Amino acid sequence: MAWKCILRTPTLLKQINLLWLIVFNSGEAHTQSNDVDCIVYNEEFMECTWIHSEGKPNYTLYHWYSSQPAKECGNYIQQNGYNVGCNFSKSEIIQFREFSVYRNGSSDSGNELPLTRNFQLQDQVKLNPPENLTLNMTDRNELIFSWGVAEKSLKCRMYEVRYRSDKDKNWQVHTINSQRKYYLASTDPKKLYTFEVRSKINEYCATTVLWSEWSSSVQWGENYTGIAQRNFHALLLFSIVTLLGLLIIVVFQLTGKRETTK
Ligand SMILES: *[C@@H]1O[C@H](CO)[C@@H](O)[C@H](O)[C@H]1NC(C)=O
Ligand SMILES: *[C@@H]1O[C@H](CO)[C@@H](O)[C@H](O)[C@H]1NC(C)=O
Ligand SMILES: *[C@@H]1O[C@H](CO)[C@@H](O)[C@H](O)[C@H]1NC(C)=O
Repeated sequence: MAWKCILRTPTLLKQINLLWLIVFNSGEAHTQSNDVDCIVYNEEFMECTWIHSEGKPNYTLYHWYSSQPAKECGNYIQQNGYNVGCNFSKSEIIQFREFSVYRNGSSDSGNELPLTRNFQLQDQVKLNPPENLTLNMTDRNELIFSWGVAEKSLKCRMYEVRYRSDKDKNWQVHTINSQRKYYLASTDPKKLYTFEVRSKINEYCATTVLWSEWSSSVQWGENYTGIAQRNFHALLLFSIVTLLGLLIIVVFQLTGKRETTK
């Protein structure tokens, strides 16, 4: 009863809404940044992006290397008609030189403060996740998780492997330098293991903090709970169908008897 009363009070409802707004916005505060961020995807192309929010101007972006003259973005990324970023092709990406962006714009309410940011593009690389994942079991009951990468160049790579069994809640995480293999010495044949891997440019080549996305996953072992559950569901379905069938027969028999007694 008390709960119903609270919900009917409009001011309280408004307060709850306000609370949600605060919770939501504080959670989003980081990603809703109006800042410009440049990411070099797999050393193939680059995107410098920002978020357009209501009331903000339609920004213009200029870019240059070191002491070269500034150029306006030649390939804007747009959303709802507003510029929200700039696309750069591979030939426009130069590592180990200072890359700068300058963004300005004006709205009805006056000029926005322009923003300048400098990057070292080798530090902004985000790789594609590793591919061709394999799992092999050796004679010594050792599981070998291995992976490949699509690019020809394997220099400067480091990896992070994570795995867990169907009995674990948390991932076991291991960092691996350069080799594309992970050995799991002892495995329990009653468990189902899931493996994933991601990659990053290592600290000898750059100072990036950007990991690739996690790869797809590969699995090894038996999923006993899965099998048991499937069997249980099949049994349940079978029982229901059988019961329904019996019920229909009984109903038909009863109605049939009534017909004949009439
Ligand atoms: C923003 O500027 C771009 C050109 O840089 C233009 O194509 C687009 O229409 C503009 N959008 C608005 C809402 O003015
Ligand atoms: C942005 O800066 C450029 C280069 O300084 C200038 O030509 C342009 O008028 C500025 N735009 C706005 C909207 O302030
Ligand atoms: C794992 O087995 C696959 C075949 O299933 C084979 O092609 C691959 O070379 C093996 N990898 C390792 C690391 O032994």
